[in-house]
Amino acid sequence: MRLLWHAVIVLLMGLTSCSTTYQPNTIENFDFDWKFAKTDIKGAEAMTFQDESWEDVELPHDWSISGPFSKENPSYSRGGWLPTGKCTYRKTFELSPEKKGQRILIYFDGAYRNSKVWINGNFLGERPYGYVAFYYDMTEHINYSGKNTITVKLDNSEQPGSRWYSGTGIYRHVKLISTNKLYIPIWGSYLVANDCNTENGTLKVETTVKNDFSEVKDFTIKYSLKDPSGNIVATQEGSGNLSTSESKVFSEVINVSSPKLWDTENPNLYTLTTTLISEGQVIYTKDNKTGFRNMQYNNENGFILNGKTTKLKGVCLHHAGGPLGSAIHRRTIQRQMEILKEMGVNAVRTAHNQFSEEFLEVCDEMGMLVMNEAFDEWEVVKKPTTFHEDGEKERIPVKFYAHLFKENSDRDLTDMVLRDRNHPSIFMWSIGNEIDQMRDEDGPVIAKHLQDIIHKYDYRPATCGVNGYAWGQFPNEEAMSIMDVAGYNYMKDENILQQRETYPERKMIITECGSAVPFRARGEFYLPSQKEGNTILPYSHKDTKTFLDRREEYEAGMYAWRIVRNKPYVMGQFIWTGFDYLGEVIPYSWPARSSSFGPIDLCGFPKDAFYYYQAQWKDGIDMVHLAPHWNWKGHEGEIVPVTVFTTGDEVELFLNGKSLGTKHHDITQADALYWDVKYTSGELKAVAKRDGNVIAEKSVVTTGAPAKIELFSRRSTMTADSQDLIYVEVSILDTDGNLVPLADNLVNFELEGEATIAGVGNGFNLSHEPFQADYRKAYNGKCLAILKSTKKAGEIKLTATSNGLKSAILGLSSK
Ligand code: GAL
Repeated sequence: MRLLWHAVIVLLMGLTSCSTTYQPNTIENFDFDWKFAKTDIKGAEAMTFQDESWEDVELPHDWSISGPFSKENPSYSRGGWLPTGKCTYRKTFELSPEKKGQRILIYFDGAYRNSKVWINGNFLGERPYGYVAFYYDMTEHINYSGKNTITVKLDNSEQPGSRWYSGTGIYRHVKLISTNKLYIPIWGSYLVANDCNTENGTLKVETTVKNDFSEVKDFTIKYSLKDPSGNIVATQEGSGNLSTSESKVFSEVINVSSPKLWDTENPNLYTLTTTLISEGQVIYTKDNKTGFRNMQYNNENGFILNGKTTKLKGVCLHHAGGPLGSAIHRRTIQRQMEILKEMGVNAVRTAHNQFSEEFLEVCDEMGMLVMNEAFDEWEVVKKPTTFHEDGEKERIPVKFYAHLFKENSDRDLTDMVLRDRNHPSIFMWSIGNEIDQMRDEDGPVIAKHLQDIIHKYDYRPATCGVNGYAWGQFPNEEAMSIMDVAGYNYMKDENILQQRETYPERKMIITECGSAVPFRARGEFYLPSQKEGNTILPYSHKDTKTFLDRREEYEAGMYAWRIVRNKPYVMGQFIWTGFDYLGEVIPYSWPARSSSFGPIDLCGFPKDAFYYYQAQWKDGIDMVHLAPHWNWKGHEGEIVPVTVFTTGDEVELFLNGKSLGTKHHDITQADALYWDVKYTSGELKAVAKRDGNVIAEKSVVTTGAPAKIELFSRRSTMTADSQDLIYVEVSILDTDGNLVPLADNLVNFELEGEATIAGVGNGFNLSHEPFQADYRKAYNGKCLAILKSTKKAGEIKLTATSNGLKSAILGLSSK
């Protein structure tokens, strides 16, 4: 009898499963139709709560960036004087009854910070660190016949909370994920394509499969690999079975002949489609990108990509994107990478936290190597220096991560590696930046523990950016030796040489160093006669006076590169920073609200030092650049210190057609060329030669008054998805079309058609104009308007006007 019942049950189960038609698994963009309140609303997690009066917002969303700047904001200069606090988001949605029986998850790529999430009044969990991705399974609380509401509460009120601008809000994408009950968990696919050359490529795949059905499942795992052109180049199949609640890892090795390798010039990406098939039906399917490239790390030859020694010409970046704050889109990152590549950069360091998934996707697609960093603090609180208006300095502790480290760091680091390890662009992990404990006896223990977590889940090496050598505050060398790669911040030549001599077996990388423009806004120059007191930026502290000499500034960055450039055993360097960023205004104080460390300003406009790096870092180009501008009315007869960057081997300088002499240039010395030129108005021209042939020329001219506006954008169409952007660069020109170097005209923007103005800016570190506006003053001849598409396709017309100037119109469209 018992046997009979068993047979009946099996038969019924068979019938049910045969008759079940499985819905496809889906990943839905969940960025739209959110409600937002800039405070903690008690009871907002309740289903019955009424939120009609709240603001409508789209994600990514950062409300700190809408300001206003205020000296009263407790984020102080470190946070760019912008507001922070608590806030609440709600989103109400319906789910098709067909999804009943599936697993329903909500995925956040990051929310700043101390997030708490509810679905239909049920608490799902909290995640304190604002830079990590997290997700919740909501299945048991979903209502399939009516409305569902997700409530998210964030708390960024504890300030000062960061050494740089963080932003506040659900500032990254959110996705709604649904799968059947036989599935690959989030981050459950692991692809390793490091064993390859131009003849053969081996893709190792580890796929975790989980069965949440209440019966055993037999299944086939099918892999299909497409090359960058979309042709299937390999297929493979495996099979498995899982009992209920069981999960297992299934491994396969897929071989490809003549793979198109991924590198920084040709970022070839392959797509692996993994499909789970059970009872003749596709039950789960998923695409992963991968890139075949071989990465080696060597104590003699540094970093080797596909057999080629590759010096890392890197920049450190913070996560935010200038005028948009931390709520950036794919296009923001693409534009950043385009500009960095024009400068010759081949690597970025995610200072000092996890970046968005989108950031890594763009780096994969555009061929940018990534050092992926996790932490700026372990257990010891940082007390960064703040400069006050009276010139005094103070060390003010930040409530950032030290208080979270013990309880969260294992999970935060694990999740980072699991989320990010499939990205071919990542060449190294970093467990921290300038961590005080790397000097203590705890250093080796914690460093090993964190590095072991990375080793557990991935094959790439780990480093930690350690400072102090240059000023005699040495780290615990045992901790340094534990790291796969020793990471050094701010080294002098003698420090590198000493380390090399003492630890020749160490693999070395300069995780951070000064840039050639440590403290200067774009286009700012002072003549020797203007040195004292005439500066626009508030050089409030006595220490900063020494940086007024332009050449001293350049020299700091040039030195940092010079001592790395010709040492093959040093993998490369990461300058602080690529772009200017909000907050950390050192060595300034109020009213400065953004840093000035980058060769590229907050809006993406190159400063002159950009061309130093271009000359040194970008391969195969012919260029010359000279600075400063040539508008020095009232300073006739005074000496103007002129600087020239070039890839040539000599430069001749001409003032109004008259030669001021030729200077020899040896690019391997990583230097600039300098002239002291007596000012007279007209044209100053640099002519660069190589082997006696002219390779490039550039002039600066004394311009007329501002006469017209010019608009420029790198693209003319965008996608009509309410997420794509067009950056419009605005220049103030004289009648002859020369950029007027000190122009500060107020530009008004009028927009018609299917776009909105997402942000404006001008790169001026002191500007307190709002980033969300339809106007902006030019700063040293330039400003920027960022347009965002709507969900409707159509024509877009941007008109820029300014009192007394000829206006400009730019025609764009969205599709
Ligand atoms: C470094 C630090 C960076 C930034 C920089 C400013 O020491 O790692 O995060 O603070 O100084 O100069």
